[in-house]
Amino acid sequence: MNDLLPDQSALWQYFEGTVQALMQRYGYAEIRTPIVEQTALFARSIGEVTDIVEKEMYTFEDRNGDSLTLRPEGTASCVRAAMEHGLLHNQTQRLWYQGPMFRHERPQKGRYRQFHQVGLEAFGLEGPDIDAEVILLTARLWQELGLYDHVTLELNSLGSNEARAAYRDKLVAYFEQHRDQLDEDSLRRLSSNPLRILDSKNPDMAPMLADAPRLMDHLDAASREHFEGLTALLEAAGIDYVINPRLVRGLDYYCRTVFEWTTTALGSQGTVCAGGRYDGLVEQLGGKPIPAVGFAMGIERLILLLETLELVPEAALGELDLYVLPMDDDATARAMLLAERLRSELPELRVQLHCGGGSFKSRIKKADRSGARLALLLGEDELAQGRATLKFLREEREQLSLDQDALAETLATLVSGEHA
Ligand code: HAM
Repeated sequence: MNDLLPDQSALWQYFEGTVQALMQRYGYAEIRTPIVEQTALFARSIGEVTDIVEKEMYTFEDRNGDSLTLRPEGTASCVRAAMEHGLLHNQTQRLWYQGPMFRHERPQKGRYRQFHQVGLEAFGLEGPDIDAEVILLTARLWQELGLYDHVTLELNSLGSNEARAAYRDKLVAYFEQHRDQLDEDSLRRLSSNPLRILDSKNPDMAPMLADAPRLMDHLDAASREHFEGLTALLEAAGIDYVINPRLVRGLDYYCRTVFEWTTTALGSQGTVCAGGRYDGLVEQLGGKPIPAVGFAMGIERLILLLETLELVPEAALGELDLYVLPMDDDATARAMLLAERLRSELPELRVQLHCGGGSFKSRIKKADRSGARLALLLGEDELAQGRATLKFLREEREQLSLDQDALAETLATLVSGEHA
């Protein structure tokens, strides 16, 4: 679990701001749910025999003896809240959320015990059009962040529950024939969750897995048509994808479409966004059947990717533009008013006022340490003449003496030039 320190927060805000704007532009409304839920909610939705529920949840008893769990993901909470507040009665809902999630996994680069997701869930829409639209939303995000050429869309269909059950039998029969090649983890999964064996990263099993029966070849007709509908829409929109017949996902609620956006730039934790359709979940949790599709992305991984690929824009560095420096205590009040005026006139400008007095030398040192590009000096002479001295802290450039009334205009051009 990590602290998010000040030198990182501007980048997080840039990322979160970009996603939030995008969600609004696609007509999604934010939902915020509690960080804890009844443990049974996750067991019933994610699945009893998944890694998350078996090994990774932070579960505790509260003072009443109720079993609660820190949410390991957002979909179950979102469905619970939507059902509880009647948001799913004969209507569609497009919801998004963000926040911390908790999984007791082995930590490594890109994998943490408290991590953060942004996700969305669309309820009440059955056709492949909505699957395509949520994928287009993510593709637009990659484009806006400069990541599009660094991620790959992997797609699969898990078919209907019936088709998957029939396929599962075939797969188990195949694995039984090759039992001697299964590792310990896979042997354990053989009876509980054999589809997850397909997801194994064990290189010794790779040739055997490559020849395993493919779910894609055992889809029911309706799921096949749905999947073809999705790929046709993606092609029409110019979105490249690869079909990964072994993409099965680690949560049990999925059916039909599943997808992941992956990158090779982050090592083994390369999935930056993942989701799919879960048409059976609402009914399974006690509601009327209603189709649904969604995804979540890992914010830490995307931040890491932006940094690794050096795609952090200037504005996301969070640096100050201007340090306003009264040169002695007599100038404090006027400097403060001038800083306030500049904040009114230039709302985008990041202005810090020197506070705490000190000698002239120490004031200049603090201006330099502030990281600002510019300092505005106000001393006796400047005040007498209604002027201010603009000093360039990061470049060899003559300082400027400016009329206080002309300051905003000069600063606007200097700063917009830099952010462009
Ligand atoms: P998930 O695949 O478990 O799906 O997680 C989604 C994303 O969260 C992953 O692709 C990854 O980027 C990030 N993530 C997961 N675990 C960690 C971790 N320990 N550390 C850092 N990042 C992590 C879900 O959570 C589903 N609820 C997605 C969904 C929404 N499906 C339908 N709607």
